[in-house]
Amino acid sequence: MQNIEAYQKSFIKYLEDFAIEREPVNLYEPVNYILKLGGKRLRPVLTLMTADIFGDKAALAMNAALSVEVFHNFSLVHDDIMDDAPLRRGKKTVHEKWDLNTGILSGDAMLILAYQLFENYEPKIFQALAKLFSKTALEVCEGQQYDIDFETRNDVTIPEYLKMIEYKTAVLVGAAMKMGAIVAEASEEDQNLIYDFGRYLGVAFQLQDDYLDAFGNPETFGKQVGGDILENKKTYLYLKTLELGNNSEKTSLLDLMINKALTDDEKVEKVKALFNASGAADATQLAVKDYTQKAFNVLDKINISEDKKQMLQLFGEQLMNRRV
Ligand code: IPE
Ligand code: IPE
Ligand code: MG
Ligand code: MG
Ligand code: MG
Repeated sequence: MQNIEAYQKSFIKYLEDFAIEREPVNLYEPVNYILKLGGKRLRPVLTLMTADIFGDKAALAMNAALSVEVFHNFSLVHDDIMDDAPLRRGKKTVHEKWDLNTGILSGDAMLILAYQLFENYEPKIFQALAKLFSKTALEVCEGQQYDIDFETRNDVTIPEYLKMIEYKTAVLVGAAMKMGAIVAEASEEDQNLIYDFGRYLGVAFQLQDDYLDAFGNPETFGKQVGGDILENKKTYLYLKTLELGNNSEKTSLLDLMINKALTDDEKVEKVKALFNASGAADATQLAVKDYTQKAFNVLDKINISEDKKQMLQLFGEQLMNRRV
């Protein structure tokens, strides 16, 4: 076992060797740009860590880890188009730096590159990885479609929201860990338990992402703060304001969504004030804790040593308290 930073370091080295210059430049330059832009690399670290936990197989899991990170970055390139986002990791998004067509095609190429990386595995493992990948990638598309559909709906429920974030975000975190377990040839039971651990952690992660989208520090967050509010996203903050707020807070929120007279900054500030006053901001932090705890409860059932459980727990706690 290594520590989190060591996994990160060896992964980044592997990624840099992968991101070679290829032609046509206008297809591959954006691919390398987004891959090297940084990011927390949490999914590939989880793949490597899990492969070590179940069989000392981090080195063998490197291509699976890379596949997960390339897929994640593909999803960000297309997500930023769909969300009209100007900033990613503190820099211009691909469609802003180049253009829309570049974002679409370079994203497509990344999806294929991600899949191609499984060719490095023997048939049995290849098949298991490819099967999980296809299922997960399709669920991510479904989650992304719900997310967009919800922008123009006013009757989204919390269970619908939770399903949406499970699909768009959490299943990939679960799959990242299950891939590590597949490469290490863990038992099917352990593969499924570690998937559930990752899935709960992923739900907590997206809840925290929603929170930071409104309340993160613009200097360090790396994305446009308030972007979800400007896109009328039905986040946990938004839905909880409608649940917990008094009548005047609820009406104000609904009015702000259709008010065209305000500047972007004014709208963001007013909506954030309602998120706070209604108690929705605190409720979101509680939900992050709650889903992190659900993940930790799954850990109890997994057949691994205490020090390995502690490492996974530490990872979960760091995610819960993250500010970027
Ligand atoms: C951003 O993921 C997309 C979400 C699912 C919230 P990350 O916050 O992991 O992005 P990077 O890779 O660290 O930039
Ligand atoms: C991201 O959700 C989910 C995927 C990229 C699949 P968000 O739209 O909330 O992610 P950010 O906030 O842009 O990173
Ligand atoms: Mg987005
Ligand atoms: Mg989005
Ligand atoms: Mg977000």
